[in-house]
Amino acid sequence: MALKQTIAIFILIATSFKVFAQSPDLVLKPGNEKEILSRMTLEEKASLVVGGGNTVFTGYGNSQKYVSGSAGNTVPIPRFGVPATVLADGPAGLRISPLRQGTDKTYYCTGFPVGIAIASSWDTDLVYEVGSAIGSEVRDYGVDVLLAPGQNLMRDPLCGRNFEYYSEDPLLSGKMASAYVRGVQSNGVGTSVKHFAVNNQETNRKDVDVRISERALRELYLRGFEIAVREAKPWTVMSAYNMINGQQSMESRDLLTTILRDEWGFEGIVMCDWASPGWRDSAKEIWAGNDLLTPGSAAQYEEVIKAVNEGKLSMKDLDDCVYRILRYITWTPRYKGLTYSDNPPLEKNAQIARQIAAECQVLLKNESSTLPLTKDSKKVALFGISSYDFIAGGTGSGNVNKAYVVNLLDGLEGADLEVDTPLKEMYLQKRDASLALMQSSALGRGSLEDFMPEEEYIEGSSDRADVAIITIGRNCGEGADRHVWNDFNLTNVESALIRMVSSAFHEKGKKVIVILNVSGVVETASWKENPDAILLSWLSGQEGGNSVADILTGKVNPSGKLPMTFPADYFDTPTYDNFPYDYTGPLAMGNYPKIPRPERKNVHFVNYDEGIYVGYRYFDTYEKKVSYPFGYGLSYTTFSYGAPKVKKASNGNYTLTVEVTNTGNVAGKEVVQAYYSLSSSGVERPVRQLVCFGKTPLLSPGEKTTVTMSFTERDLSYFDEATHSWVLEKGNYQIAIGSNSRNILGTVSLEEKNTKTLEKANAVLLKQ
Ligand code: BGC
Repeated sequence: MALKQTIAIFILIATSFKVFAQSPDLVLKPGNEKEILSRMTLEEKASLVVGGGNTVFTGYGNSQKYVSGSAGNTVPIPRFGVPATVLADGPAGLRISPLRQGTDKTYYCTGFPVGIAIASSWDTDLVYEVGSAIGSEVRDYGVDVLLAPGQNLMRDPLCGRNFEYYSEDPLLSGKMASAYVRGVQSNGVGTSVKHFAVNNQETNRKDVDVRISERALRELYLRGFEIAVREAKPWTVMSAYNMINGQQSMESRDLLTTILRDEWGFEGIVMCDWASPGWRDSAKEIWAGNDLLTPGSAAQYEEVIKAVNEGKLSMKDLDDCVYRILRYITWTPRYKGLTYSDNPPLEKNAQIARQIAAECQVLLKNESSTLPLTKDSKKVALFGISSYDFIAGGTGSGNVNKAYVVNLLDGLEGADLEVDTPLKEMYLQKRDASLALMQSSALGRGSLEDFMPEEEYIEGSSDRADVAIITIGRNCGEGADRHVWNDFNLTNVESALIRMVSSAFHEKGKKVIVILNVSGVVETASWKENPDAILLSWLSGQEGGNSVADILTGKVNPSGKLPMTFPADYFDTPTYDNFPYDYTGPLAMGNYPKIPRPERKNVHFVNYDEGIYVGYRYFDTYEKKVSYPFGYGLSYTTFSYGAPKVKKASNGNYTLTVEVTNTGNVAGKEVVQAYYSLSSSGVERPVRQLVCFGKTPLLSPGEKTTVTMSFTERDLSYFDEATHSWVLEKGNYQIAIGSNSRNILGTVSLEEKNTKTLEKANAVLLKQ
């Protein structure tokens, strides 16, 4: 046979083979990802690593294609039976469009309490339940991955997205995130733990370089993510916008491959935070291990192909990402062909949201048992515009399109309290007028501005009513940080309102209660003496007004505790000098232009000079006066603690037990916190650090229970920069049990005889 003929036959066989290979029966199955991969064209691979946002992208984080109002999707490859998968926000509920063209049907989702609120429960079972209820809506609306939880550390009280996050403590953050992930994923849908990593400010979030020590990075900012990834195995992780020590998070192989995958064993996919085209280097993202470029654009698709063709990106690096995406797709409901109802049990979930929100309330002050309200305080004078326009959740991608919000007014009236009519009518009129002027969008809206009622309303209602309630409202959200004046600090109007209402009611021997319907920490030290009680209700979801009424009337006994410190003054925080608290320049939403250089401190770069001294680690070590310490929260009952006991098991883990008794008159729950210290330490350490926590079940008066908690050697270790490893130092560790970080009620010690290296890490992401 002539050579030409042989070649022709060979080509024919090869082509028919290819045709055979392309036949629809070669479909993606768990385990055959590599085979599929080997048959994919470069174009198909590029289409898989670039999200489908380019096709029908109707704005930042809003896609119409599969589920209206979802944030994005992966692109299908029908010839391999690879479906599209759908991604939607998170975290206080599912964020999709409530209305769709061509139908009267609505697609509302339940607005649950925000992250900062659920963390205040310190209850991992409860957070699992929140996740599980949200996950059921994700599944029922045909979404594959919920872009949540947000779990960046609350480094500074003014971060605009703190409401979506959990705590200033990495252990609490990590445990909350784990519980949430497990809850959502119990529905057979995925989560995306975000924003990885060190995304602690919104100002210039896409372009700011965080300059941080290796120890602070490992012990504080990565630790919560590490806990969630190792314990709960989220399907996906979302890489952050910001830079860390000069490396863009979403382009950092050190972060996304060396730390996340090699050290922590992450097996899911990494997607980047929604980056507009032209912002990032697509080839570098893929090389780094950022599997999916979201929302995705035609330009990025071209870039990936070009980068491979020009040898700028190796096929191996691209294949690694494609393989992981294929594997992830096999986990999803869309791949499994599951049908969805578009009909989640919204009424049932609203009841869950109500119960959960009540468990998240933190009672900050309760002088002379002002709360719960008695039979003699049925007539309420309700002040503060937010009482009539209660804030359920934050703005930005964390907004949830819920069918309704229960205002505090509705909650009180629903609980058979009588709200003073003249005051109410005046407020309702003002509210409606302000709402008419206010713009709202799919990303939510801000809070209404308070005003000072004319004197007759204060005087008159102090005659008619038994008690006054004043709500202070604050909202914030993605794209901007909060400010000190008129935000962290109350406005002059708000302070005067508290002062004047307190004085008018106190003159008549009547009590005053302040409700903080806020998205983050506010200043309390200057005015907390005025009212008799202060209830921190956070942004407690669509049922907020009912949940607060449940607490005020004593139907539910508050058991929340602060997941962060309330400083006496913003300028007492360890971070203020290295945080853009006075920034008023352009914001970071959408395709905004880069903030012009020359470099500006706290905008283009931020120095984490406080190192490991964040939150109570700083306030407690340096004995700073605070308004309310970390872990603080009151109850309508009292508890006593027995002596704590600690035991080490053969696997090296410790079990800590403590008996807690309800010594008061009503049923209640108590959060028990355990902090460790090592005074003989050869390295610098905060005076105490949270090592584990637990919550009692509802205890009747006189009832006791043993709270059992556990922690590991790793929880006691520090990150040694010299050897880049986690080290357990020898010495006598004090384990202090407390009801907050400054109220220690018992101590037990444990001895570690030898110093040992627990885990070696890689010398990456080092400060330059
Ligand atoms: C936010 C993410 C969100 C994404 C999709 C981004 O702007 O930072 O938290 O998940 O948009 O909407």
